Amino acid sequence: MKDHPRIIDLPIFKDSRGNLTFIEEGQHLPFLLKRAYWIYDVPGGEARGGHAFFENEEVIIALSGSFDVITYQGNEKKIFSLNRSYYGLYVPKGTWREMNNFSTNALAFILASSPYNPQDYIREFKDYLNYFSHE
Ligand code: TYD
Repeated sequence: MKDHPRIIDLPIFKDSRGNLTFIEEGQHLPFLLKRAYWIYDVPGGEARGGHAFFENEEVIIALSGSFDVITYQGNEKKIFSLNRSYYGLYVPKGTWREMNNFSTNALAFILASSPYNPQDYIREFKDYLNYFSHE
């Protein structure tokens, strides 16, 4: 059965001096961490990340500000509005995902299960639908 995108609640230590959240390998992610990258300084109205991965899995966190992640599994569309640094959106492999509606100073932090590999990308939505329907 295919895994679905879902929000993972990360630990939060609330404190009057400021809150603290963390991720530990083997504890909070459904995969072993191989890579982290972040997207920032996104001009108003821009969209990022219109693609799917054959194998790479990700957890997307709004470390600062807010943005929307639109996911498709085939034609099944979901919109996740991320605006808290203690929520991680798990995006399984084989999921189309794009990000838009970035606020000023939004910082998208992405944890990934594999090293960067351009061959792992499906960049055209029609190719994605074709791939999904044969999975
Ligand atoms: P990409 O994932 O294609 O972003 P988007 O789909 O939002 O356009 O990444 C843009 C470029 O950044 C890509 O052409 C190569 C580089 N890149 C890396 O070198 N390593 C990475 O881990 C990532 C995510 C991107």
